Amino acid sequence: MSDAKTHSVYLDPPGMEIEVSEDETVLEAAFRHGVMLFHGCKEGQCAACKNFLIEGDVQHRNYSTFALADYEKEEGFVLLCRAHVFSDAEVEVLHWDEDMLESGVPIQDVTTEVAEIEELTHDLRKLTLTLVDPPEVAFNPGQYMDLGVPGTEWSRAYSMANTPATDDRLEFIIKVLPGGKFSGLLDDELSPGDTIEAKGPYGTFTLRKKSDSDIIFIGGGAGMAPLFSLLTSMVEEDIDRRVTFYYGARTAADLILLDEMAELEDKLPNFEFVPALSEPTDEDEQSWDGEVGLITDVVERREDDLSEHAAYLCGPPPMIDAAMPILEGMGVDEGKIYYDKFTVSASVDEDLD
Ligand SMILES: Cc1cc2nc3c(=O)[nH]c(=O)nc-3n(C[C@H](O)[C@H](O)[C@H](O)COP(=O)(O)OP(=O)(O)OC[C@H]3O[C@@H](n4cnc5c(N)ncnc54)[C@H](O)[C@@H]3O)c2cc1C
Ligand code: FES
Repeated sequence: MSDAKTHSVYLDPPGMEIEVSEDETVLEAAFRHGVMLFHGCKEGQCAACKNFLIEGDVQHRNYSTFALADYEKEEGFVLLCRAHVFSDAEVEVLHWDEDMLESGVPIQDVTTEVAEIEELTHDLRKLTLTLVDPPEVAFNPGQYMDLGVPGTEWSRAYSMANTPATDDRLEFIIKVLPGGKFSGLLDDELSPGDTIEAKGPYGTFTLRKKSDSDIIFIGGGAGMAPLFSLLTSMVEEDIDRRVTFYYGARTAADLILLDEMAELEDKLPNFEFVPALSEPTDEDEQSWDGEVGLITDVVERREDDLSEHAAYLCGPPPMIDAAMPILEGMGVDEGKIYYDKFTVSASVDEDLD
């Protein structure tokens, strides 16, 4: 048991108090109390956990100034995933909803084994892990796990592509980055039977079910994973909302899960999949009759008034940063834009305790 001092942090709204030890972040303490606050990367990179400190002594572990600019910090904004408290404190929680606060699934350490690594494209792999201990894990569609890099203290976040209906295994879609500490192991170093320690589930990129509004999904590359999980869960739970899924890939050879998307279009009468190629090859120019261009341009071309829509965005941070103002400009309420930025962890590895 740690002998670090603890302090009370009052979260207002929703009007609850949690005990936070000096050696944990406010977000970690909230998880411990079963309180699900908005968050994404947990590494000070995505800004999803940005809130306002009303009073208290708070110090941050390292974070990106893209997530919290210096002037915002001076005004009192804090990143709860990097914030340690050294006195009692009060935080104004800027974005929260009842659905989310109550949706917490206990965070567990899980031992898994590599079952299969399948090549989806030249740089995307489907990784399937079998759960060993415990043999099942609860999660909400859209959430992610931290997967340990074997033999090191590092971990990387990966979103589940399957749903809790298949909770005896975890499926991921991972982009291989040459030299990447985790993804770089997929082609040569990891094989079936290898052990991978996982922790989770984390993330608040889940379907807000109290609403029945129409939905826009925007995804790129491996950002397909949580969106596929959300769509599969809509079939499983008989949710019949209108969803248009804009998916960006460079070339036709980079597109994935086309058969699965066609099946979803059969099962969900109000679902439309709109893939778009941003850099079609000469061959694609001959054979491709779908959309061409940056996915954000395609959305602007095909949509008009989105003021009654919710939007779910997942993939590389530049795609999400480009899409947000466009969606807001087309009328989507800022509070109804949900996103998971696939930020890179390499820059925060040195900050481990
Ligand atoms: C919430 C969340 C969910 C995610 N889900 C997915 C998912 O489903 N699928 C997926 O593929 N990815 C996902 N990611 C990204 C994933 O967690 C990893 O960051 C990614 O796979 C790279 O990890 P790596 O260990 O392979 O590479 P790293 O070793 O972390 O390096 C990545 C690359 O970054 C470059 N690099 C090296 N040093 C730095 C530095 N200091 N700063 C910046 N870049 C550097 C290098 O070129 C290197 O190749 C998710 C991220 C988040 C936050
Ligand atoms: S910056 Fe805190 S969760 Fe991403």
